[in-house]
Amino acid sequence: SWRAHSPPSADAGAYLDIERGVIDRRIWKDEGLYQQELRRVFAPSWLFLAHESQLPKPGDFFTTYMGEDPVVVVRGKDRTVRAFLNTCRHRGMRLCRADAGTTRNFTCSYHGWGYDLSGNLVNVPNAEAYPDHFDTADWGLREVARVQNHRGLVFGTWNPEAPDLIEALGDMAWYMDAFLDRDPEGTEVVDGVTKWVLEGNWKLAAEQFASDWYHVNMAHASALMVMSPTGKGPKTEIANTPGRQFTSPLGHGAGFPVHPRSRFDDAAVHEHYDYDQLRERLGSARVEGPMTTGHATVFPNFSYLPVNGTIRVWHPKGPDRMEVWTWVLVDKNMPEEVKQAQRRYNLRTFGPSGIFEQDDGENWSEIQAVSRGFVSNRTPLNYQMGLGIHDDHDPDYPGRVGELYSDNAARGFYARWRDLMNTPAWHENHTTPEGDRD
Ligand code: FES
Ligand code: FE
Repeated sequence: SWRAHSPPSADAGAYLDIERGVIDRRIWKDEGLYQQELRRVFAPSWLFLAHESQLPKPGDFFTTYMGEDPVVVVRGKDRTVRAFLNTCRHRGMRLCRADAGTTRNFTCSYHGWGYDLSGNLVNVPNAEAYPDHFDTADWGLREVARVQNHRGLVFGTWNPEAPDLIEALGDMAWYMDAFLDRDPEGTEVVDGVTKWVLEGNWKLAAEQFASDWYHVNMAHASALMVMSPTGKGPKTEIANTPGRQFTSPLGHGAGFPVHPRSRFDDAAVHEHYDYDQLRERLGSARVEGPMTTGHATVFPNFSYLPVNGTIRVWHPKGPDRMEVWTWVLVDKNMPEEVKQAQRRYNLRTFGPSGIFEQDDGENWSEIQAVSRGFVSNRTPLNYQMGLGIHDDHDPDYPGRVGELYSDNAARGFYARWRDLMNTPAWHENHTTPEGDRD
């Protein structure tokens, strides 16, 4: 059975004392924990796949990863978006080797097996050489169990028993919509995907985007001096910024200043919006809060920054490396020059050479490098900011919401991680790999 093939699982709780706010950095380093993560965090969770604007027509496809599993996301002839494990059922060759494109079917480059847009095996060269009991119906592509869309963002999960995406997002959807629902026509992504590799565990990035406003003043000090509209540097602009942090029991998190003067957005994008209209559409709390210079993570590894226009995935590539994939998200309705202004602004700030992006990556990579040391590895870290001192309710915001300067959402992220790590996933309760399919 699959279960018999699964290595014994570690108690993730042994590495985290969430209640005391103490974390053992081996969770970023340990190969066994990493394998357990692929099995129990990535395989059962809803994971971001693509933006629907990448797949406007039947036959349009995009290749990505769910955890370390390659998948191809494709719009079928019936216009339904499906996702398949991107590996041929014959010898396991990577089936689709392009990043994106349009096709009528997928032909394997090793021996030529061909699959249609619904994953059916439709062509087998030298088929007469196979025995009578060989049935192409048994050898279609493995399909991602559930694929759903929230306001243009397409997510998938291998877990046939997963709750609907909207339930899995919970209150997080309200915060996401400050970015995704600014305009009735919705959003699109512009000009492809930017990808780069970072030394560092994927959780370092996901956790920071969920929770960490604290680093902004220090890590991004020089960038803030350049960006500051007053030219006075970060102290007056960012230090003690009033703001809120949202913590979800589902592991998601978001933090944001609560005054529009906290905006550091591009002038062209700022002028594009009619803020009175936005307040009417989304409510003042959302326009003055999550629409400003904030950050967010949808558990486990999808993050975004509304003002910078970036959406991104932290793809795990082993315990000590991640691949960052980023898209620029804009309102469909924006004039082309505003879209391009948003794209350039994103590139300047959070592109691979962006003035903020480089600061974050440097910190994560150094943390990872330090974690290699034997003694470092056994020296726990502090996650106590805000612990027990906040009243985590604000009538203007849904869910658990407290002060911006807090580790609450990081503790929430790791609590969710620990719970999933310690819970057998659906596939561990089935006896055959096929048994876990719908
Ligand atoms: Fe794909 Fe052989 S591995 S056809
Ligand atoms: Fe940062």
